Amino acid sequence: IMSNEIDIRNYIEFAKELTLKAGEIFKCGFEGQKIVEAKEHEWDLVTDYDKKIEKQLISGLKSKFPDHEIIGEEDTAEGKKEPVLTDKPTWIIDPIDGTLNFINSFPETCISIGLAICKELSGGIIYNPLSDEMYTAIKGQGAFLNGKPIHTSCVTELKKALIELEFFSLRFSSKNRDIILGRLDAVLHASRGIRHIGSAAMALAYVAKGALDSLHMDHLQPWDVAAGVLIVREAGGAVLDAKEERYDFMKPNTIAAANCTLAMEIKELINNTDLKTMRKRLTRT
Ligand code: IPD
Ligand code: CA
Ligand code: CA
Ligand code: CA
Repeated sequence: IMSNEIDIRNYIEFAKELTLKAGEIFKCGFEGQKIVEAKEHEWDLVTDYDKKIEKQLISGLKSKFPDHEIIGEEDTAEGKKEPVLTDKPTWIIDPIDGTLNFINSFPETCISIGLAICKELSGGIIYNPLSDEMYTAIKGQGAFLNGKPIHTSCVTELKKALIELEFFSLRFSSKNRDIILGRLDAVLHASRGIRHIGSAAMALAYVAKGALDSLHMDHLQPWDVAAGVLIVREAGGAVLDAKEERYDFMKPNTIAAANCTLAMEIKELINNTDLKTMRKRLTRT
């Protein structure tokens, strides 16, 4: 299926409207009562609003675009299925990114929707209903915040960079504790400062608008990054895989930065630090 630019623009316009409507439910949940449950692990939480919002987005997209595919976080969890990407237009949905923030009424949380066509990221929407900030991008057409163009920062040196580190998933694996602490120490010393806001999608949006200079996050899922990666790239930024040569948003170990120079610096620092940590591990045993 080939989609032309006009199709993609129409898809994204429709999805923006749908996201704004979903934002109303999001705000109700943020301010009111919610049912909180654990998924497979006690730290992996979901609320009735994650499910409600995802259902509404899926049914809206399905009825408008019956031949499109959809990968949603909660739907994937429920069906215990592996997300597979085909060449068909595929919507990749995170109904609430930063569920823990949402539960705690900590306002760094958003709805994230990416669109892949022929396995390539073609459109992205990140919407924080609380601040009413909508970040959007279409491949080749730039990145926008509430309709105004945004750009990544000009910082190319690590020592001048403000960096987001997300350790959420790694935190629970004691095997990786020394890896995490090693990276934390290295980045803290090499940079101007570290942030951890608890929403991968918001962090990517902040890199896109230059509020953060860079970020590094491990063990993410496609729905955490699909929209944000395109928005960062369209804002002039670079996205690399922390370990591999090629970045694959379906298996993301993400380094996103204002530019390639900064992204490469962080990649090198992370990998050198991990090597040191592993050497220490060996001498200990
Ligand atoms: C999480 C957030 C968090 C990141 C986790 C994600 P969720 O998404 O993006 O910042 O560190 O790895 O799972 O579960 O709140 O949608
Ligand atoms: Ca989740
Ligand atoms: Ca997420
Ligand atoms: Ca989520």
